[in-house]
Amino acid sequence: MDKLDLLVTGGILVTASDTAPLDIGIRDGKIALLAPPGLLSPSIATKHIDAGGAYITPGGVDTHVHLEEPPLFGGRGRSSDTFETGTRSAICGGTTTVVAFAPQAKSMPSLLEVLRDCHDRARGNCYSDYGFHMLVGNPSPAVLKEFGPLINEEGVSSLKIYMTYEALQLRDDEILDVLCESRGHGITTMIHAENGDVLNWMTRKLEERGLVDPVYHATSRPQIVETEATGRAVALAELVDAPMLIVHVSSPRAAAVIREAQTRGLPLYAETCPQYLFLTRADMAHPGDNGFEGAKCVCSPPPRDGPEDHDGIWLGLQNGTFTVLSSDHCPFMYNDTEKGKKSIISEKYPRGHFKGIPNGIPGIETRLSLVMSEARITMQKFVEVTSANPAKLYGLYPRKGALLPGVSDADLVIWYPEGQLSGAEGLTLTNEMLHHNVDYTPFEGRKLKNWPRYTILRGEVVWDRDGDGLVGKKGYGEFLKRGKSSLPGPRKAGEFDISQF
Ligand code: URP
Ligand code: ZN
Ligand code: ZN
Repeated sequence: MDKLDLLVTGGILVTASDTAPLDIGIRDGKIALLAPPGLLSPSIATKHIDAGGAYITPGGVDTHVHLEEPPLFGGRGRSSDTFETGTRSAICGGTTTVVAFAPQAKSMPSLLEVLRDCHDRARGNCYSDYGFHMLVGNPSPAVLKEFGPLINEEGVSSLKIYMTYEALQLRDDEILDVLCESRGHGITTMIHAENGDVLNWMTRKLEERGLVDPVYHATSRPQIVETEATGRAVALAELVDAPMLIVHVSSPRAAAVIREAQTRGLPLYAETCPQYLFLTRADMAHPGDNGFEGAKCVCSPPPRDGPEDHDGIWLGLQNGTFTVLSSDHCPFMYNDTEKGKKSIISEKYPRGHFKGIPNGIPGIETRLSLVMSEARITMQKFVEVTSANPAKLYGLYPRKGALLPGVSDADLVIWYPEGQLSGAEGLTLTNEMLHHNVDYTPFEGRKLKNWPRYTILRGEVVWDRDGDGLVGKKGYGEFLKRGKSSLPGPRKAGEFDISQF
C-alpha cells in the first residue's frame, strides 16, 4: 500500500449517520480509508495525529455567510470581513467550506456580472473552500434567463431573495417568477421571510413616538411579521411546487408554519442560527455606551424574547424542522462611524436610530463550538445540521459533509477530549480569541466546553490550536462548483404547468 499522507488515530468518528471509534487514513486530500483502532501503524503515514479519544467530525459547512458586501442591510454598513479575513475566521472555528452571497442590488442588470466581480474578490484570498449563492434583487426577464448558465456553467445552484429591505424586497409576483424559473433549472431558492411593508409601518409608528433606541429594532419586527411572511412564502412555493429554504428562522411560530407544510410533504427546508438559540431582545437593550451597545446584537429577524423561544428553536433542530444551522455571519465593526454599527450616530440621533443600524452580526468562527458546547442535540444531529445537510441541500455532498473513503475530501475537525479544554470550567469566549475582522462578538463571555483542536482541509492541517494556531495559507481555499440539491425536490416531475389549476 502507498504511504498515507496523514493518519489520525484514537478518535471517535461522528458523521450524520454513525458514531464509531475509527482511525482515518488520508491521501491526496481525500479520505483514503477508515480502519478499526490499532489496525494501522503510524509508520504507514508521513504524518500522524493522536486524537486522544476526542470526537472527530466532518469539517463544518456554513452556507449563510456575507463577505465583502456593499451597504444593503440598513444604513451605511459595509461588511468588515473580506474573503480573506472571513474564511480565516471560518477555519479557526472548524468550518472548512463556506457559501457566501454574490449580491445583486435592484439597480444591477446582470447576475453573471455580479458573480464575476465576486470571483475577483475571492480568488486567491480564501483560507477555506468556498462557493456562491446569488442574491437576486432584480429578477428582470433578462436576469431570469441567466439562471440556466448559473447552474449549468458556473456551479451556482442556489439563490436568495428577500421580502424586506428597500434595496432587495421583491413583490409576490416577482417571487413567483424566481421560484418558477429556479424550479425549472433545479436551483434551490432561499428566502428571507419578513414582511417589509409591515415593519416599515411599525418603524414609522415607533419613530412618531421617538422610540428609536436599538431595542426598538425588535419591537418593529415582532414574531408575527416573520410568521406572516413565512406563511406567504410557503403558499407561493406550494402554488408553483418549488423547493425552498427559509433562512434564519428566529420564531417558534414561524417554525410551526414550516413544520405543518413539511408534514404535508412539501419540499420545504429551514435554517436557523446560533443567535436564535443564545441571544434575546434583552441583549439589544444593553445600557452600555449611552444605550447604543445593544446595536451589537441587531440583526434580522431579531433575537426573540426569552428562553421559551430558544427552547422552540432547539426543538425544531431536534425534530428535523430545521435542515441546516448556519451562522448568517454578517460582520460590521461596532466602533466605526463610517461603515459600522455607529454609522447611524449623528447630531440628530446622538444615541442612534434603529432603522439605520446595519443589520447583521458576526458568528462564522463561533457557530460550531457554541452549539456543540450546549449539548442539546446529539453529536450526529450536530453533524447533520452543521455539515451534512448543508452539503446535501446545496449540491456538495458527499464531497463535503461526509467522510466516505475514496469520495469525500479529507475535511475534519478534531475536538478536545471531553473535559480537557481549560479544565472542567471550559473556555470563556472573548473577541480576542477570534480571527475575524470585527471589534466584538455578540457571544462575549459565554462558556464553551469544546473548541476545534485541529481543523484539516483537504488533508492539510490549517488550524492547530496547541501549536502555531492558524497554519492554513491564504489562497489554499478552492472555489467549489456545486450541483443540484440531493434532498427531495418538486413533488411533480417536469415543468410547472399553470393549466393544472
Ligand atoms: O441581519 C441580518 N440577518 N443580516 C444579514 C442579511 C440577511 O438578511 O441575511
Ligand atoms: Zn436574510
Ligand atoms: Zn444573511
